Amino acid sequence: MSHQERIRVAIIGAGVVGLTFAVALNALDKDRKIAIDLYEAAPELAEIGAGINVWPRSWEILKQIGLGDALIPLFDHHPDLEPRVIFGVRKGDQKDGFKIHDVTNYGGALRIHRADLQKSLMEHLPLPDSTVADIKTLCTLHLSYRLLDYTQTTNTGSSGGSGPLTLHFAGKPSAVCDILIGADGIKSTVRQLFLSRLPNPQTYERFLQPVWSGLVAYRGLVAKEDLQKALPGHRALTHSGLMYSGKSRYAVVYPVSGGKFINVVAIVHDKSKDTNVWEGPWKVDVPQTELFEQYAGWDEEIQALISCIKEPTKWALQSLDNLDVFAKGRVFLMGDSAHAMLPHLGAGATVGIEDAYILASLLTHPSTSRPLSTQHVNLLTNIYNTVRVPPAIAMSKSSNETGYFCNLEASGFEGYMEGDDIPMNLLVGAAHAVERNWSWTTSDPEEDRQRAVTLLESPRAVL
Ligand SMILES: Cc1cc2nc3c(=O)[nH]c(=O)nc-3n(C[C@H](O)[C@H](O)[C@H](O)COP(=O)(O)OP(=O)(O)OC[C@H]3O[C@@H](n4cnc5c(N)ncnc54)[C@H](O)[C@@H]3O)c2cc1C
Ligand SMILES: *[C@@H]1O[C@H](CO)[C@@H](O)[C@H](O)[C@H]1NC(C)=O
Ligand SMILES: *[C@@H]1O[C@H](CO)[C@@H](O)[C@H](O)[C@H]1NC(C)=O
Repeated sequence: MSHQERIRVAIIGAGVVGLTFAVALNALDKDRKIAIDLYEAAPELAEIGAGINVWPRSWEILKQIGLGDALIPLFDHHPDLEPRVIFGVRKGDQKDGFKIHDVTNYGGALRIHRADLQKSLMEHLPLPDSTVADIKTLCTLHLSYRLLDYTQTTNTGSSGGSGPLTLHFAGKPSAVCDILIGADGIKSTVRQLFLSRLPNPQTYERFLQPVWSGLVAYRGLVAKEDLQKALPGHRALTHSGLMYSGKSRYAVVYPVSGGKFINVVAIVHDKSKDTNVWEGPWKVDVPQTELFEQYAGWDEEIQALISCIKEPTKWALQSLDNLDVFAKGRVFLMGDSAHAMLPHLGAGATVGIEDAYILASLLTHPSTSRPLSTQHVNLLTNIYNTVRVPPAIAMSKSSNETGYFCNLEASGFEGYMEGDDIPMNLLVGAAHAVERNWSWTTSDPEEDRQRAVTLLESPRAVL
């Protein structure tokens, strides 16, 4: 198909979700009818971050879009659906911590260094010079393009219009697209513009900015040799994953980069500030002493891990307050832009990867072609809202609930202070609740995709 006839999809943001969407479109674009412009504000596609959990459910999607062979060697174990321990949960807020329960699912968590995942996605972008991508979709990457605004060309005569969108960037020429994807993260510019243009913008004011949860996360990577020196035979050296649970704080620990590093995420409920607005930068470098102070009196295994994190970073944990519309007109939000959630379930990117896969399936479906009629665009946005909003909200809520169990702040724990003895049945009950909340990780994403495609093929129900 000639370039002029292709559906012009503009993606704002080349994070994990924007990249996954571009790769998914190319993988599914059998009719070669899509042209992507991928706009990223940063001057380069940096490979950043620490560890990330990929679940069997997301693995199915990553395989479907062609990343299987590239990712297998980068996981901590070969993907399968055997029963595996996700986290050995321990009571951590006392000198001699002890085992509570092994939280298990089918297939475990596929742990990967975020930089490795991002690098594989970048290699599979259908850019003309790619050596691995089987190119069906045309793709152009525009770095240092920060979106400021979008406007709609009226081609119907009605106010507001329904035609293609014009994108406006800081210090760069503007551009036109048929479909606009906001994959620009928790602070999303696209979301802010999109919500302010809904018929009832005042209803959506509280979704313009994320809400601070009162929690912060300290993150760091520990080299295996360092930990072996700090505490020979440390449990984390050989364990698939651990969670040290305590009052108002907990830490999760798991291997990444084939076991070379151990990823540490230490979460603290900061009760000193009574506000839901975080002031200042969201991610700051902090001195190691701050982390030691936060976990003073905890198990020596935690102390040893902290001693190996010379340069911890602190992240403010923020989320959106369960936005209930992700698409309208020609604009679609995905990933953190639509549903930034708290990290207690390790599910934020997972849900974004599903958004990407399902929308890519709808846009590459034979019934979607240029020129896009208003009716077809409305059908796509209705289906996307129908199939993506409920699971994203459920996962956000579930993640929040899971946090209270990890933090020993769920109901039943009110009377206990940091370091207290807590009845074992209460502790095990909390770990079981966490385990139940991880059962979704092995469900089949094809069912959701099939449901979306069925709605497109027989749309009565959604219109
Ligand atoms: C402590 C912690 C642990 C986590 N662990 C997990 C886990 O184990 N598993 C999991 O699934 N998820 C996890 N998450 C969540 C996950 O990190 C996010 O959900 C995911 O990274 C979101 O990806 P994204 O592509 O939507 O957004 P981002 O990664 O934020 O990407 C957005 C991109 O858009 C660009 N951009 C922004 N504004 C503009 C603009 N105006 N114009 C152009 N470009 C723009 C940015 O530069 C950026 O590159 C965790 C999160 C935290 C904080
Ligand atoms: C749950 O969400 C609310 C609202 O954002 C927040 O105040 C609270 O701290 C969250 N709880 C946990 C454990 O993350
Ligand atoms: C998570 O657990 C809570 C409390 O046990 C429950 O209300 C919620 O439905 C669970 N969520 C999932 C996705 O299992």
